[in-house]
Amino acid sequence: MELWISQASTRVTYMIVVLLGILVLLRTNGVECRRHRISDRLEYPAISCRAHSASLEDFGGVGDGITLNTKAFKAAVDHLSQFSLQGGSQLIVPPGKWLTGSFNLTSHFTLYLHKDAVLLATQDENEWTVIEPLPSYGRGRDTEGGRYISLIFGTNLTDVVITGDNGTIDGQGEPWWRKFRAGELNYTRPYLIEIMYSQNIQISNITLMNSPSWHVHPVYCRNIIIRGLTILAPVTIPNTDGINPDSCTNTQIEDCYIVSGDDCIAIKSGWDEYGIAFGMPTKQLVIRRLMCISPFSAVIALGSEMSGGIQDVRAEDIIAINSESGVRIKTAVGRGGYVKDIYVRRMTMKTMKWVFWMTGNYGSHPDNDYDPNALPVIENINYRDIVAENVTMAARLEGISGDAFSGICISNVTIGLTQKPKKLQWNCTDVAGISSSVTPQPCDLLPDQGPEKIMACNFPEGNVPIENTKFQMCSYMSQNL
Ligand SMILES: *[C@@H]1O[C@H](CO)[C@@H](O)[C@H](O)[C@H]1NC(C)=O
Ligand SMILES: *[C@@H]1O[C@H](CO)[C@@H](O)[C@H](O)[C@H]1NC(C)=O
Ligand SMILES: *[C@@H]1O[C@H](CO)[C@@H](O)[C@H](O)[C@H]1NC(C)=O
Ligand SMILES: *[C@@H]1O[C@H](CO)[C@@H](O)[C@H](O)[C@H]1NC(C)=O
Ligand SMILES: *[C@@H]1O[C@H](CO)[C@@H](O)[C@H](O)[C@H]1NC(C)=O
Ligand SMILES: *[C@@H]1O[C@H](CO)[C@@H](O)[C@H](O)[C@H]1NC(C)=O
Ligand SMILES: *[C@@H]1O[C@H](CO)[C@@H](O)[C@H](O)[C@H]1NC(C)=O
Ligand SMILES: *[C@@H]1O[C@H](CO)[C@@H](O)[C@H](O)[C@H]1NC(C)=O
Repeated sequence: MELWISQASTRVTYMIVVLLGILVLLRTNGVECRRHRISDRLEYPAISCRAHSASLEDFGGVGDGITLNTKAFKAAVDHLSQFSLQGGSQLIVPPGKWLTGSFNLTSHFTLYLHKDAVLLATQDENEWTVIEPLPSYGRGRDTEGGRYISLIFGTNLTDVVITGDNGTIDGQGEPWWRKFRAGELNYTRPYLIEIMYSQNIQISNITLMNSPSWHVHPVYCRNIIIRGLTILAPVTIPNTDGINPDSCTNTQIEDCYIVSGDDCIAIKSGWDEYGIAFGMPTKQLVIRRLMCISPFSAVIALGSEMSGGIQDVRAEDIIAINSESGVRIKTAVGRGGYVKDIYVRRMTMKTMKWVFWMTGNYGSHPDNDYDPNALPVIENINYRDIVAENVTMAARLEGISGDAFSGICISNVTIGLTQKPKKLQWNCTDVAGISSSVTPQPCDLLPDQGPEKIMACNFPEGNVPIENTKFQMCSYMSQNL
């Protein structure tokens, strides 16, 4: 059995603790001391380090790919939650294949996946609790009524870290995808990670794959850092979105590589009358150094559920290959809400259907009780410093009649076309704004301001607060006794 001891937020404290630990062991048991292996050291950056650490094996976990570990996870979290107010705790998932149903997280808690640890989500539907729909959605996304709880779930938490040395969470989504397509599911498919009503969340350095539906869903949260995720889903499977910040404030998403059958990142804030009533926007969101492959969807989508509002999104240094569109706005009459103060710069794209796409008639309503007078406000949308190659059509900008999308600014954009481009490269209706130094020539609704306005489109200086977060280097010793 492995036992993990000692935690320290700095290397110095770490070394003192190790020395003390060795002294104690020398005094009590020389044999154990000789077996102590310094190579079993764990070190990684996190928003908080933990005083207590344990391995899933300590709670009866079996990593054989066959044994169900739901009870082991529950026992581990139940036990470790007692340390919430005593320095917090860490659960290590060691090398192995750990089949499991859904389990819940606790506060002041770290889930650490070893690089050779694979969590396998059970494919047995009966292992998945059905929970209430989200209040800002009014119903499940796939079906009316409830939804299957996510594989890793947390609600009303503070200070949670999910990280690892690139360990894997495999949703084994195939049977869910098949049943979804056949209309055989009674409830909405589960996500891999969902954190609700929580704050101070870090999700980093893990690989997520084959989710039944979305991969990472922070909702009604604040202060979220998502960094170094690899997300891999078959590109033909619907709704396998990568990361969906939903009614969240102060979020940073960095250094992620996402291959998806849907949007790589979808920014949301509730659906029609339910989202309007709930009224919680997504704001202060930074996305940088994202690489996306999404042949049938957007690199970054705003909406279509945006009824609580989306404001102050900054996206930069984005690479897209073989994706349908870049940073896309999706909305509809009945959504209400707003999408405003959106800033995009330094995107490089190859093989795209549309570089720019805005859709005002997305439709897709939760029910027939939406308010047809609830018009979304779309304004101050900025794109600059974009290079795209092998593009079928530059832009398809469709606002809403009587509710034009305004303050659109597009500058310093070079779009190279595919062998068989569309004849009409810019098709604009019900939009207003400006352009500068854009090829091919934009539509008349975005009049060219001349080359001297190449930097016309704004990108804010200064940080959103989450960017000032200090990481600690956490160190833990393991001993094979
Ligand atoms: C996790 O929390 C949810 C919501 O509070 C609850 O319905 C579910 O039963 C919990 N799951 C476990 C495994 O305890
Ligand atoms: C979680 O927080 C929300 C919003 O504050 C609250 O409505 C809900 O009752 C809380 N749930 C639990 C289980 O504490
Ligand atoms: C993490 O693992 C994934 C899947 O095996 C791999 O594609 C990716 O390159 C790895 N990332 C790092 C940083 O090693
Ligand atoms: C779905 O509901 C139907 C009708 O209530 C029921 O017969 C069927 O067993 C349910 N399927 C699942 C997978 O729960
Ligand atoms: C993630 O892993 C990289 C190395 O691949 C490392 O430099 C970085 O500090 C880690 N970050 C976090 C937040 O875990
Ligand atoms: C225009 O965009 C390109 C590509 O991102 C960049 O290299 C260049 O510096 C930009 N020009 C100006 C004037 O900002
Ligand atoms: C260009 O895009 C087309 C689809 O429009 C694709 O079939 C082709 O492979 C792409 N060419 C290159 C060189 O990537
Ligand atoms: C341009 O967009 C309008 C409104 O969305 C659409 O009706 C029309 O068919 C489009 N024209 C072309 C040539 O694609």
